[in-house]
Amino acid sequence: MQNEHFLTLAEHFGTPLFVYDAGMVLERYNDLKRFIDHPRLELHYALKANFNPALLTALRDAGCGIDAVSPGEVEYALHLGFAPEKIIYTANNMTDAEFEKVYASGVVMNIGELSRLRKAGFAHPGMSVCLRFNPDVTDGDSAKTMTGGELTKFGILLEDIDKVLDIVREYRLKVVGLHEHTGSGIQKPESFHAAMKALMSIATPENFPDLEFLDFGGGFKVPYKPDEQPIDYVTLGSGIAERFKEFEKSYGRQLKIKFEPGKFMVAQCGTLLTRVNTIKRNRKRLIAGTDSGFPQLIRPVLYDAYHQIFNLSNPEGREEIYDICGNICETGDRFAEQRPMPEIREGDLLGIANAGAYCYSMGGIYNLRAMPSEVVVKGGKVISLRRRATDKDLIDNITGTTESCDMAL
Ligand code: LLP
Repeated sequence: MQNEHFLTLAEHFGTPLFVYDAGMVLERYNDLKRFIDHPRLELHYALKANFNPALLTALRDAGCGIDAVSPGEVEYALHLGFAPEKIIYTANNMTDAEFEKVYASGVVMNIGELSRLRKAGFAHPGMSVCLRFNPDVTDGDSAKTMTGGELTKFGILLEDIDKVLDIVREYRLKVVGLHEHTGSGIQKPESFHAAMKALMSIATPENFPDLEFLDFGGGFKVPYKPDEQPIDYVTLGSGIAERFKEFEKSYGRQLKIKFEPGKFMVAQCGTLLTRVNTIKRNRKRLIAGTDSGFPQLIRPVLYDAYHQIFNLSNPEGREEIYDICGNICETGDRFAEQRPMPEIREGDLLGIANAGAYCYSMGGIYNLRAMPSEVVVKGGKVISLRRRATDKDLIDNITGTTESCDMAL
């Protein structure tokens, strides 16, 4: 989108404001389908990345499925009209109550612990399940988002395959799918292949005769830094499709191949617009103070993630070095530290790029500041507005869920 569009949206809807381009999300969905050219490819968008309803309905209409990670996400996807067979529930540490709730909805469950698998079999002998394995491949853009290897809580170890098979036999479970997810922001294309190889090595007809699909998770990275080399997804995608076709031959039957992209689908479609209201020189530091803060876009603070920031009001200004800070009562509340930027003046509008994935969805109301409004743009039009809560809404929510108790202990 052009600068002037952002300036218009900020003027009309106020700031801070999340702006999403639904057309771009659909483009990414179609890109992945084209790159991984396999007739039985199914994509399940990782809803946790961005749960904006207008984006989700656009994806639903395009035929995309959902990767859900909580009963709340499952219920939301069903509510939006995704059919149960379009949803996979990848739980971790779920309770018995959560398990039963999702089981009743008919959504296939992806189980990543021996203990839960045993409980599932005991409760519902003969049920269909997907099994999540730890591929023992470690990759991702932050140690906090790598999900394979020694240090992660996710998945069943490949070496525990015999224990899995014992439970499957004991409860006559129908294993319809096998799953792995290596991490978010996978840096090396080889990691995709290594993880696929690991999962395929146990996906034999002897071990699992009832397979309908293999699911290789998400993790397709997008560039965040201006000089970052994008991955060659055309080559990666055709390698993936080729390897899967070879696998199908050795398995002896056609299967579906699934992926669960989040970041790739939505990161680049989003921009957080925030206005600078205070410029301050603090001896060595020039500080631009904005009307947003880390609870609204936490990735820089949580992962040391880099997000490009544009001065939309003064793109040609003389370069200076800024700390770009938020309005939260913490020193660490920075979107960028010592960042060269075109001169920022009070009142300028900044655009924080790649704010479509894991920004709003990881947000909170720390310091009692409501999350920003969200607008969705498609084909040069604003098609949806999700309004920011007022201070009164926040207070009503807090007080309305509080009651006095009189319980002796
Ligand atoms: N499938 C499973 C089982 C997952 O756990 C995830 C992400 C995905 C798919 C989607 O991964 P993606 O394609 O988005 O990389 N908050 C972090 C990312 C956390 C990812 C959690 N799981 C961030 O902002 O970088």
